[in-house]
Amino acid sequence: MMTIERFLQEIGPLTLGAEAPLRVRDYFQAAIPQGVDLPGRFTEPDGTQYARHLLARFSSGATAIVMVWGKGQGTPIHDHGMWCVEGVFRGKIEVVRYDLVGEADVQGGPVRLRAAETIHASVGEAGALIPPSDYHTIQNMLATPSVTVHIYGGEMDRAKIFIPEGGGRYRMEEQPLQYTTSAPLLG
Ligand SMILES: [Fe+2]
Repeated sequence: MMTIERFLQEIGPLTLGAEAPLRVRDYFQAAIPQGVDLPGRFTEPDGTQYARHLLARFSSGATAIVMVWGKGQGTPIHDHGMWCVEGVFRGKIEVVRYDLVGEADVQGGPVRLRAAETIHASVGEAGALIPPSDYHTIQNMLATPSVTVHIYGGEMDRAKIFIPEGGGRYRMEEQPLQYTTSAPLLG
């Protein structure tokens, strides 16, 4: 069983450069199945919404966040605007990826999104989301908490979310994101 501190230390140097998302994804796929210890304070769900705990700020500017998904918890369709690698530490999640269809009729107006791919990911599975096509949702598939670790190419303090308006159209809104706890183990 590897400590979370060592896991994060090994990821740090992988977060630099254009190959970062694929290198981090490969590392996730190799390391997580061997077991990475997560202290209990990082695995407790929040009753109101999914929990986001800051784990690390790397010198590259990338960040690591652990998320705890309670029963029925998930995200709206969103877009990070930066690369992200997501790996499942506990439980099982569903990721639905969306494609943008055409252009908005008016600048800032509603856009059309179409579900393109549904992925069910269990412990040890990891994926890389790379702009410009990173519209997606995440949903816990279990009645018990699922835990995922996310490496972002920067500070993930806001996201674009897409609110359905009917007829496959979505209105974009900028949403500020809060950390449930922000005392990183690294950085
Ligand atoms: Fe996401």
